[in-house]
Amino acid sequence: MRTQAIALFHRAFGGSPGTVASAPGRVNLLGEHTDYNGGPVLPMAISARTTVAVGPGEPGWLELVSARDGVVARVRWDGVMPDGWTRYIVGVQRELAARGSAPRGARLAVASDVPVGGGLSSSAALTVSTARALADLAGADLPPADLIGVAHRAEANQVGVRCGIMDQTIAVRGRAGHALLLECATGRTRAIPVRARLLLFDTGVRHQLGDGAYNTRRAECEAALDILRLTEPGLEYLAGWPARRVQTLRRLLSGTLRSRALHVVTETARTRAGADLLSRGRVRAFGRLLDASHESCRRQYECSAPELDLVVRAARRAGAWGARLTGAGWGGCVLALVGADSARPGTREEAIRAAVNRSFLRAYGREPSVTVLRAGPGARRERVQLE
Ligand code: GLA
Repeated sequence: MRTQAIALFHRAFGGSPGTVASAPGRVNLLGEHTDYNGGPVLPMAISARTTVAVGPGEPGWLELVSARDGVVARVRWDGVMPDGWTRYIVGVQRELAARGSAPRGARLAVASDVPVGGGLSSSAALTVSTARALADLAGADLPPADLIGVAHRAEANQVGVRCGIMDQTIAVRGRAGHALLLECATGRTRAIPVRARLLLFDTGVRHQLGDGAYNTRRAECEAALDILRLTEPGLEYLAGWPARRVQTLRRLLSGTLRSRALHVVTETARTRAGADLLSRGRVRAFGRLLDASHESCRRQYECSAPELDLVVRAARRAGAWGARLTGAGWGGCVLALVGADSARPGTREEAIRAAVNRSFLRAYGREPSVTVLRAGPGARRERVQLE
């Protein structure tokens, strides 16, 4: 992707970029829709990355090109917010400008192998790599916590998806071979070694978080929190409700709000327990929590999709130790745990792949794409010169 971004920059604008940076997509092993509820998440950076090559440009303007279509767009970054992917870049530029860390104008070439809309956080890979590259171009210091903040505000305040902090955090702090337990209320993190073989099935079903389902869930969680606070005025976050008091929660809430809150509270407990199991190499028990998480996403949070459920069922039947949707849901990808990575899972893996492909083909007339997941590093500067 580095070579592609630099070559694209050269083709579109002539010359070499001033800075190049990249950031990864991610999968979330456990802890879905807990981040904006003050709970824990357990994401892992993947090897798919977005690379941005950047050079100086005319003050007030951004010129942008993506390897996906090769078309150069020219936008005033302090004008009307554009549509499509370029608004993420404009959002980053505006947030950097707000803290005095932006170049006055820039040219950007973007190359990525993170699938868009697949629940692998293509947007955070884009905002984080862009923020890193633009701040470097401006000669501004942008420590990791600030990089996360700029990328998050670009998406939440500028683009208008009220996302949590998980995707930007893992895109910055990802570490090869590790997942990251992030406690979103405190910002505390713990690296968890991943000694497991994981497959990722992409159903090809795409969602737009801006469509509203995501923001609706957020509003439902806030409404549930408001009701619980009538009894527990000190409750800061929905995820702060103790799992052992789940019966009381059932009494205090009803209908949709009860379902949403039950998911958040039980998912919070599962995520902490899961991180602990994984760090102790108890991969099979970890897998059972993946299954429970999927059921909770499907039934209580209603963020699954028939294609995801089918892959999960087929993978489990073929011997997966656990399987669940990953990311916001409503489409995108399924994570399947084949086994511990020391256990030579060869035949089981083949059986899982074949069973998922067969079921999916029968139901939808096509096969999902599948990749073996490896935990990769977070955002970094890339060499500017092509060798
Ligand atoms: C999206 C958001 C994250 C998180 C997940 C669901 O990826 O960007 O902040 O809320 O959905 O777990």
